[in-house]
Amino acid sequence: MSTAIKPAWKKWLQSSLQENIAKLGTSATYASIATVKKDNTPAVRTVVMRGFVAEHHTEETGWESDLLVIITDKTSDKVEEIRNNPHTEINWYMNGTMEQFRIGGTIDIVESNFDQSKLNHLHSSMAMRQSLQDMDSHKSLALQSFAKQQQQEQRLNWQAERLRQFIQFGASMRANMVHSQQVKELEINEIDPTSGWYQNSQVQDLLDEAYENFVLLVVKVSSVRHWSPSTGTKSML
Ligand SMILES: Cc1cc2nc3c(=O)[nH]c(=O)nc-3n(C[C@H](O)[C@H](O)[C@H](O)COP(=O)(O)O)c2cc1C
Repeated sequence: MSTAIKPAWKKWLQSSLQENIAKLGTSATYASIATVKKDNTPAVRTVVMRGFVAEHHTEETGWESDLLVIITDKTSDKVEEIRNNPHTEINWYMNGTMEQFRIGGTIDIVESNFDQSKLNHLHSSMAMRQSLQDMDSHKSLALQSFAKQQQQEQRLNWQAERLRQFIQFGASMRANMVHSQQVKELEINEIDPTSGWYQNSQVQDLLDEAYENFVLLVVKVSSVRHWSPSTGTKSML
């Protein structure tokens, strides 16, 4: 396994996260992300850290990366701020073990009509370990969609990843991404058997609207500083 894809900081982060989720539940995935506003002053807010691009914590995807993912709505201020200045620092405090990870890096925005060629610089941060075609059935709907879109391509297809994340996202979270009306839940129970695209004929227009607003923020990590009461500050990257 390439150490570029599984660097020491990733192993450490995953093991601390597992321990904190066991102690605290999913609130261990909350972190604060800073961006730079147009007037050069900082903006910080809480987000859910969704894990690593093309990976899932309980399901083998065949892929591995050291790129962190956050999901947001394209109307949020942070998207415009990142477009203007991609630099970020994420402060991830895990209360269960009193550890703090300060993660520095740059963010790429994967939105509707994204330009795949602008994401080429991320390829060295990902690796395909196994073809999905060789895997057992019983894949989740999200992973079935990913397999259809990704096919046999050796490089990550970002549309496949954006769709996988959208299908995996909760029905009520998806509903929040519809702005034209109030919607409580947007279920996806099926995918198109050929394209892998999400399907629900009763709410297809609303799903399309939510997908239009659905944005992946992809963090390429360039520094990781860890702090705990017993070890103090330690640079991991
Ligand atoms: C516990 C918690 C989790 C949140 N998770 C997210 C998230 O994953 N993505 C997101 O865009 N906003 C999330 N928010 C809302 C943001 O903190 C923020 O209010 C919103 O994104 C608008 O901020 P912006 O306009 O500065 O981008 C979360 C808020 C809380 C309190």
